[in-house]
Amino acid sequence: MVAGALNIRVAPFERRYLDRVLAIERASFGQDGWPVDAFVDYWRQCPDLFLIAWHGRRIAGYSIARVNWRGAELESIAVDPRYRARGVARALLDATVARLDASTLRLMVEVSNASAVRFYRQYGFVRTRLVKRYYGAGRDAWRMRLQPLTNRAAYKLSRDREGAVALRPKQQRQKQA
Ligand SMILES: CC(C)(COP(=O)(O)OP(=O)(O)OC[C@H]1O[C@@H](n2cnc3c(N)ncnc32)[C@H](O)[C@@H]1OP(=O)(O)O)[C@@H](O)C(=O)NCCC(=O)NCCS
Repeated sequence: MVAGALNIRVAPFERRYLDRVLAIERASFGQDGWPVDAFVDYWRQCPDLFLIAWHGRRIAGYSIARVNWRGAELESIAVDPRYRARGVARALLDATVARLDASTLRLMVEVSNASAVRFYRQYGFVRTRLVKRYYGAGRDAWRMRLQPLTNRAAYKLSRDREGAVALRPKQQRQKQA
């Protein structure tokens, strides 16, 4: 278990991180986890929106979003169980939102995944629709949507030399200056 607030750096996925991402996937979703090909496909489609959360030299989680004709979709997000409830997923979503031109971000989540639903609601997503049997028999999903990203002007995107993204409230930066 990793205790305390974490300093998380978010940067784009690279192929050499695949094994670690797959390990987090298995620990998070078990048999429902995506196979390696799915990760490679998403990476090819939207390389800028496949993100890795780093804690020092360790990979703590990943997220994948994709932009299609309907807007932006969060396809998957998972955090190493040892790193949960330390703001890792929040950092990944902040970096994703910062990279989006879309006015909203949508996702599907299994109704029984109570901790993920709580996390999304805490972040600002709202449930818009129940989709029966989305994940198979007896496994319904919530369609959720992040309210239009109108507050983006309140944030400033910064990148370090390695291209890592951090999203900080402008006000907070001014106070620190
Ligand atoms: C859902 C998941 C990605 C959240 O990741 P995380 O790094 O633990 O989340 P964070 O620490 O960034 O949480 C951010 C906020 O959500 C809240 N939150 C996170 N997990 C929560 C939980 N289990 N119950 C209640 N609130 C929770 C936190 O309190 C936090 O609020 P705060 O920033 O105001 O303190 C993680 O639990 C996970 O990997 N689950 C397994 C994979 C999965 O289900 N993915 C989603 C599939 S749709």
